Amino acid sequence: MDCSDNLVNEILRLKKEKNAIILAHNYQIGEVQDIADFVGDSLGLSRQAADTDADVIVFCGVHFMAETAAILSPQKTVLLPDIDAGCPMADMVTVDKLRELKAEHPGVPVVTYVNSSAEVKAESDYCCTSANAVKVVNAVDSDEIIFTPDQHLGHYVSTQTTKKIILWNGFCPTHRRITAESITARKEAHPNAKIVVHPECMEEVIALADAVGSTEGILRYVKASSDTEFIIGTEMGIIHRLEKENPGKIFYTGSERSVCPNMKRITLEKVLWSLQDMEYVITVPEDIAAQAKRAIDRMLEIV
Ligand code: 13P
Ligand code: SF4
Repeated sequence: MDCSDNLVNEILRLKKEKNAIILAHNYQIGEVQDIADFVGDSLGLSRQAADTDADVIVFCGVHFMAETAAILSPQKTVLLPDIDAGCPMADMVTVDKLRELKAEHPGVPVVTYVNSSAEVKAESDYCCTSANAVKVVNAVDSDEIIFTPDQHLGHYVSTQTTKKIILWNGFCPTHRRITAESITARKEAHPNAKIVVHPECMEEVIALADAVGSTEGILRYVKASSDTEFIIGTEMGIIHRLEKENPGKIFYTGSERSVCPNMKRITLEKVLWSLQDMEYVITVPEDIAAQAKRAIDRMLEIV
């Protein structure tokens, strides 16, 4: 038995003792994914958080994800093992700035990507994830939509709908590191590989893709495909699950720099400390949570 076996055993023991569930995003490091009860994309994780009957949710992801879990399950204790695991894109939209844009477009509904603060969700009409953004936008009863904060996801949605999309200028720094050049270089080296990318990628990257999807969408596409080589245009933590679930298939990262430093803050040690010390508890003030939940529930009703 090595040191990591001890860690894992202690995590599992505490998990049982505290009636906890461990949720992990597809970008988490492999060891963390391997001890989780559920690994998935933002939509799947929100659903798990809403449905679980555990008392404690240890959220291995970034702050907005734990916040969403706290909004959906206010009676549960939601723990984020590293309080500094944030999402720079979520910080690119504030309530004040959103109110200014709303004032410029009176009556236009706001669809906000789940990568946002609870306050911004509370100021929005609908929430969406990368898995359902097109569906949500199409379901809103308006020909014009304000879409925040991701300009690239918003632009991708605008290519899949007849509606006019008013874009915010946020972006994911990790997906910006995946460039048309880095994808093209890999395609030249591996001409038979299919290019599968996340909609947070830039337009010129999406234009090169054979398929576009949320992290779970990427996993589904690869599993269903008869191809054997794939260039994966998203954060490279997803390769762990791709390889585990698809023995014999080969994966190339879209860029050697596609690492989200925030997602990588969570380690097995921090998961253990989180359960030992019951830290860091993520809560959302009741009034904000109620307003934000409206936007999230509207999304969950659509998909
Ligand atoms: P998914 O919902 O597709 O898993 O994406 C979350 C995210 O943060 C992508 O950068
Ligand atoms: Fe945020 Fe990008 Fe990291 Fe996703 S990959 S959590 S959007 S910084």
